[in-house]
Amino acid sequence: MTRVLSCIQPTGEVHLGNYLGALRTWVAGQHDKDVFHGIVDLHALTVTDQSGVLGDSTLKLAAMLFAVGLDPDVATVFVQSHVPEHSQLGWVMECTVSYGELSRMTQFKDKTSKLEGQFISAGLFTYPALQAGDILLYDTNEVPVGDDQRQHIEITRDIAIRFNHRFGDTFVIPEAVTPAAGARVMDLQDPTSKMSKSTVTESGCVMMLDDPSVIMKKFKRAVTDSDSEVRYDVAAKPGVSSLLDILAAATGRTPSDVAADYTQYGPLKNDTGEAVVALLEPIRQRYTDLIADRAELARLLQVGSERARAVASATLDRAYDAIGLLRA
Ligand code: TRP
Repeated sequence: MTRVLSCIQPTGEVHLGNYLGALRTWVAGQHDKDVFHGIVDLHALTVTDQSGVLGDSTLKLAAMLFAVGLDPDVATVFVQSHVPEHSQLGWVMECTVSYGELSRMTQFKDKTSKLEGQFISAGLFTYPALQAGDILLYDTNEVPVGDDQRQHIEITRDIAIRFNHRFGDTFVIPEAVTPAAGARVMDLQDPTSKMSKSTVTESGCVMMLDDPSVIMKKFKRAVTDSDSEVRYDVAAKPGVSSLLDILAAATGRTPSDVAADYTQYGPLKNDTGEAVVALLEPIRQRYTDLIADRAELARLLQVGSERARAVASATLDRAYDAIGLLRA
């Protein structure tokens, strides 16, 4: 069966855009392929210098992944640092990629240009090597990624090909695939930008754990436009269209179909808010139950990391043997 790996960094809280745009498609797709989902805490370490933050956000993210419906018996949900093979293969990857290749990574250049004069960890530079290790450890066939990550998959392929050439056929060559299309969810205060937690105005972003009253308030304040026609037209009416997109995604309909039900913005905002509350309420409930039961969460993550380790340790062994390291 095709093996698929998606990873997510435990930085910040999950919002409606993450859910409708990506997580929901993970849940829907979990039975079709052999899916592995890594919470990549070691990647987040490249930009973390505070004590006691990462573990907490890792646990919260895990609870959210299970709460939205990833089934631990079907999908392999694991924490990167629970699978030590990531660090081990990461070093091998660092020795298989060149300084020049890493220097050409546009994400590194973007990130460091914003950190001028500040501490820039070497990990930020070698990050693509760690990521290559993540991917190659699982004999991954497909990596669903957005455009910002394509270069990292490309370098992973280059590393795998180089390693196989140097040391003999060891790694499966992965492919970047376009993720199953989720809904388009824009910032409620700035409907031409994607919903994001780093938004200027907090009210533009609906968090998964927002209280129903907060959600309703955010939708009531959503930016629309000055005429009053409800019509799905992303270019001319981005605010209204974004509400229609969200309402459609929350109710399993199409935006133009939903548009036909409305003649005024008020009811559209209200119904979209209510549909989102109805969609998120059971998730919030499951999340609350799970986060209160640390033992159960730890058990679920252990199941995941054991399954992950079974694959990862075999791959690492294969790589060490191919290199010809003296085995203990
Ligand atoms: N670099 C990815 C991001 O920032 C996260 C990531 C780490 C990843 N390892 C991965 C994605 C392996 C896909 C496969 O979003």
